[in-house]
Amino acid sequence: MQPPSAPIKTKDEDLMVTAPDEPSAKQWAQLEHMARAAAQRAYAPYSRFVVGAAVLADNGNIYPGCNVENASYGLTTCAERNALTSARSQHGITNILAVCIYTPTSHPTAPCGACRQVLNEFGPNMRVRAICDGPERLDAILSELLPEAFVPHHLASSVPRS
Ligand code: THU
Repeated sequence: MQPPSAPIKTKDEDLMVTAPDEPSAKQWAQLEHMARAAAQRAYAPYSRFVVGAAVLADNGNIYPGCNVENASYGLTTCAERNALTSARSQHGITNILAVCIYTPTSHPTAPCGACRQVLNEFGPNMRVRAICDGPERLDAILSELLPEAFVPHHLASSVPRS
């Protein structure tokens, strides 16, 4: 029989440690606020499914985006991708630390597969938070939502065909 293991001692500061690239509580609050505000600008006359997003870049700025639908349906762009595009086109961002997605639903909505892939380009370890109008929320790291992502080094390993 194993002897009872000694209790693990934790110091107060151990319990407060967050990863260095984890947004602060204040940044999360700003991300949530920006995502909710962005949802009010969504253009979703076809699906009526409104989405707001906000990304935190490594320059400390937060960039919002909303879904923008199109009569062709297929040319609709998602809120997360619009937020990322805004960060890139305004300030040349290449590194995103976190994304928050808000939907006025009773359960949180995780980013779609296409958005996971596009977000991955600018931060495979970014924090992802989805919030809604209910008490539930989803917190994850992008790499958990998109294991085995397609990344730039896959392109480098192609063998030219003669
Ligand atoms: N949508 C987003 O904005 N983000 C997602 O991750 C999933 C879907 C939008 C696209 C479309 O306007 C509506 O939600 C319904 O699919």
